[in-house]
Amino acid sequence: MEIEYVRSRFIKHFDGTTGYIYASPGRINLIGEHTDYNGGFVFPGAVDKGIMAEIKPNGTNKVLAYSIDLKDYVEFGLEEKDAPRASWARYIFGVCREMIKRGVDVQGFNTAFAGDVPLGAGMSSSAALESTFAFAINELFGDNKIDKFELAKVGQSTEHNYCGVNCCIMDQFASVFGKAGSLIRLDCRSLEYQYFPFKPEGYRLVLLNSKVKHELASSAYNKRRESCENAVAAIQKKHPHVEFLRDANMEMLDEVKAEISAEDYMRAEYVIAEIQRVLDVCEALERNDYETVGQKMYETHHGMSKLYEVSCEELDYLNDIAKECGVTGSRVMGGGFGGCTINLVKEELYDKFIETAMAKYEAKFNHKPEAYDVVISDGSRRIE
Ligand code: GLA
Repeated sequence: MEIEYVRSRFIKHFDGTTGYIYASPGRINLIGEHTDYNGGFVFPGAVDKGIMAEIKPNGTNKVLAYSIDLKDYVEFGLEEKDAPRASWARYIFGVCREMIKRGVDVQGFNTAFAGDVPLGAGMSSSAALESTFAFAINELFGDNKIDKFELAKVGQSTEHNYCGVNCCIMDQFASVFGKAGSLIRLDCRSLEYQYFPFKPEGYRLVLLNSKVKHELASSAYNKRRESCENAVAAIQKKHPHVEFLRDANMEMLDEVKAEISAEDYMRAEYVIAEIQRVLDVCEALERNDYETVGQKMYETHHGMSKLYEVSCEELDYLNDIAKECGVTGSRVMGGGFGGCTINLVKEELYDKFIETAMAKYEAKFNHKPEAYDVVISDGSRRIE
């Protein structure tokens, strides 16, 4: 996104002066879905699409916020009782509150912001928004005293406390820690992470947006978490050291099969396999073995569709098309219930795949998916 796009609106909307420009990206995740809240591994990277905001302290105790995309303007104070109604403004308000809870003396500011990460596409537009403001507030009012992990947690707590989504840390982590050209494997239990340069020779990563809006905020996501907790509680009775599904294996799960619902069993079965798949993919990458990477992606799709049940007809269809076209790997990405598939495609197949996917999908669902080439990019930063 162009700086000028945001700056010109900021100038027009406020008093003609300029502030500081900050940006944070959305993310992809190569593999490791619904594993973060199970203490497992994830393997995300930041993308070249995200949120950009111009921000200027205004010497009052009010935030004046303008959403350029929605052409909507909201003012709010910084006390708990001042929570705005507009959902987009609640993210900014939540970040302010979470920073205040961490001892930052947040003051009023003017801001105008815009995004080019598609909303509801499973690319974490909301994490990009949270990270942008957490990073900026830390610089402008906090002397940078909050470390990067805590900035990611500010975004996560915003989701929990102000947006009703019981999410984990992957999205905000990727947005804050992103690095151009690298994916990041995060151990969500220990919070250890490792950058993996990712430049698959002869392949491209492409997202296909089904344009079905996911409803992460709906109870479905939170319900998946509950299922995992139910399985852990049952296993714990026999194996007290099991704190997360990360610590469990299929034998342990089978021991409690009769004590948990069939649904909880399926959810846990998916998660246990998915955590292992992240490790398998990292190992395969070290050997440049993209066939294995791709095969694991298909396994993830199958699990997310049939066991975790977070896919939908449209995403399953995109996955089928990928298979038919001989695409190396394809799966639904992010929380699910809509959004994108992520596809690992051989260069020589790329054009044909995109063309086929567009035509077939449109014929069936009356609208085209959108394709985005993945460019793995840097995390939260000040631009100007
Ligand atoms: C959403 C959540 C993440 C993670 C993914 C699924 O993006 O915000 O914490 O659980 O779903 O992998």
